Amino acid sequence: MLIEPLGDFLYTFYSPTGVHRRTCYQEKKFKGEKQWKKEKGFGSNFGFLMAAVGSAVGLGNIWGFPNKMGASGGFTFLIIYLILAVICGFIVMLGELAIGRKTGKGAIAAYHAISKKFKWVGWLGVASAFLIMSFYCALGGYCIKYVVLNVGNLFGAGFGSNGLSGGDVFGAFLTNQGEGVIYGLIFVVLTMLIVMGGVSGGIEKFCGIGMPALFVMLLICIIRACTLPGAVNGLKYMFVPGWAVANGVIAKAPSIFEVISTAGGQMFFSLSIGMGVMITYGSYLDKKEHLEKNAVLIIVMDTLVALMAGLCVMPARFALDPDGNIGGPKLLFITMQNVFHSMDGAIGPIFGIIFYLLVVLAAVSSSISLLETVVAHFVDKAREEGKGDRRKKYSFIASILIALLCVLVCVDGLGSNGIAPWELLKLDGYKGWSDCWLDFFDMISEGVFMPLGGLLMTLMIGWEIGPEMVKDECEATEGHKMSSYPFFKVCCKYITPLCMLLILYGQLKSFFG
Ligand code: PHE
Repeated sequence: MLIEPLGDFLYTFYSPTGVHRRTCYQEKKFKGEKQWKKEKGFGSNFGFLMAAVGSAVGLGNIWGFPNKMGASGGFTFLIIYLILAVICGFIVMLGELAIGRKTGKGAIAAYHAISKKFKWVGWLGVASAFLIMSFYCALGGYCIKYVVLNVGNLFGAGFGSNGLSGGDVFGAFLTNQGEGVIYGLIFVVLTMLIVMGGVSGGIEKFCGIGMPALFVMLLICIIRACTLPGAVNGLKYMFVPGWAVANGVIAKAPSIFEVISTAGGQMFFSLSIGMGVMITYGSYLDKKEHLEKNAVLIIVMDTLVALMAGLCVMPARFALDPDGNIGGPKLLFITMQNVFHSMDGAIGPIFGIIFYLLVVLAAVSSSISLLETVVAHFVDKAREEGKGDRRKKYSFIASILIALLCVLVCVDGLGSNGIAPWELLKLDGYKGWSDCWLDFFDMISEGVFMPLGGLLMTLMIGWEIGPEMVKDECEATEGHKMSSYPFFKVCCKYITPLCMLLILYGQLKSFFG
């Protein structure tokens, strides 16, 4: 560790790798490498990977990917998705990890440090994180409610379904605003407590156990779903091109442009890129870890889990609730609950508990990455000003603000309670993005801010600071050569920005078109 005196009692401390820097009074000085790891940064590459994959794996993988794949051409969609993941996802992911690790700072300060023209892009990311959190916490709360509901069903308790259908249970829950708010707030508090625990003590610990557990639970659910009679139709829906149209599941096949834009939008949201999560996590990564390898692994694992989620929900839906909703919140909370209702005896509630617990895990590991993106900036600043860490205080303040938006989303109950944006703002002709507060916040964050953030980031790297920055950062790992550099350079300058424009256009069209 290097110590540089700055003035009376004031010193700058450098981490062993030289990336992290903090200014403080000598009294508070750090005791060595171990403490650095404890206070800032992941303890191991596995921990980092689980946290990053945890951020990527979320509700989008479960209710978005399988349905979009089925409705947009099965295998054809998968191939287009993978191509986009290589020419856009990989480039933006690697760029963000490199920016984070190079600067050692959260999104806002990182953009400030490396760019003149794009200084403010970090704020766009933090704004996206805020908005996504608002509905993510509400939905996470719904998942906790469904774990409890299935526990009730297992024991025949009054807080179970009481013989109601999935649709009725969900309808009653949405209009019970108090209950919705309570569950939403429980989820916010859960997220806050983990982030308060710090990067290695909270996030890494949670994801290091939670992600492998999620994987195992998913495997159990896949085995059950795929062995149900009639499950094969779910597999055909998901994989066979044209099956969905031929069998009347969807009315009309989408055009190739629609397929590309659906795949692009899904890929972006699913990989948690374009908004600073990966910059923040990258800033906690040690110089000895390979950035390229990590970027590839995150993408591969996220796609794998999305496919596995499809193998779980689609066969179950086609076998046990063939007329049920096939995507979005209704798939998760109505169709899947009907699936568990129609399994015999205790098996239904038991699988219900496992399934909704795995969704809670997926949602929490994403929401902690969002909260960390907001909090990191203020924690860094406090440290540099020598005020110590103040992580708990900032996590608390950010959570209160997020809780306010989350309460709005819960009270709105997916537009069931007469306070949807279109009703309040008298927007009759503009249904879709203004149907409910969830869609409204989703439109701004997922529809506009995230693809815009990704576009601006590639323009910044490609044309302002130069792709060599990413090469240098990758090669800061001893003995590592960035083998993808020629590809990265061409993509970052030309191909990715063009694709990003296309995705942005597609997103706007899907929300407003
Ligand atoms: N990737 C998450 C999902 O698939 C959502 C998310 C987006 C999480 C952006 C963090 C940042 O559900």
